[in-house]
Amino acid sequence: MKEHKIILNSIGTIKTPWLTPENMPIQPTGAQNTKGTIILNKEYSKGLKNIEGFSHIILIYHLHLINKPELEVIPFMDKKSKGIFATRSPKRPNKLGISTVKIESIKDNIIHILDVDMVNNSPLLDIKPFFEDFDNRFNTKKGWLASKTKVAIENVKSDDRFK
Ligand SMILES: C[S@@+](CC[C@H](N)C(=O)[O-])C[C@H]1O[C@@H](n2cnc3c(N)ncnc32)[C@H](O)[C@@H]1O
Repeated sequence: MKEHKIILNSIGTIKTPWLTPENMPIQPTGAQNTKGTIILNKEYSKGLKNIEGFSHIILIYHLHLINKPELEVIPFMDKKSKGIFATRSPKRPNKLGISTVKIESIKDNIIHILDVDMVNNSPLLDIKPFFEDFDNRFNTKKGWLASKTKVAIENVKSDDRFK
């Protein structure tokens, strides 16, 4: 089947304290209270109307420091190879990251956020409100991640395997 070529413009930049992909949290739950800032391009400010009513937002961003994607990876949480689509590894074909972060404050086009697990200057592609009734699922099958405890996920840090 024909592939669609899609050209996206970033809508802003995510500022975080994580300067390189190594030795940093691997998910927002492992980055609790780590402060970041979204600098939304001013032309999109109007789109933030009503966002202040939400405690959390979902960020979709470009994992811009990934060079070569891979279809099989050994994820941070395991020692055995997995298909990329069965993981949240950053080395994915379209290099898209997704993180649910907490809103701390909003002023004009600047959003201060908490729980950031992306590298500084990651290009932001979209913002969506987190809404439990859309986004939460219960009684799910958890695949190879089933045995991973919350504490383990929070404590694992990245390394240089996806350089
Ligand atoms: C396992 S991924 C998960 C990201 C996101 N929460 C997700 O599930 O799509 C997080 C790791 O990707 C790497 N990373 C984060 N931002 C990146 C970026 N902009 N470019 C390349 N790698 C990045 C870091 O090693 C970080 O620990």
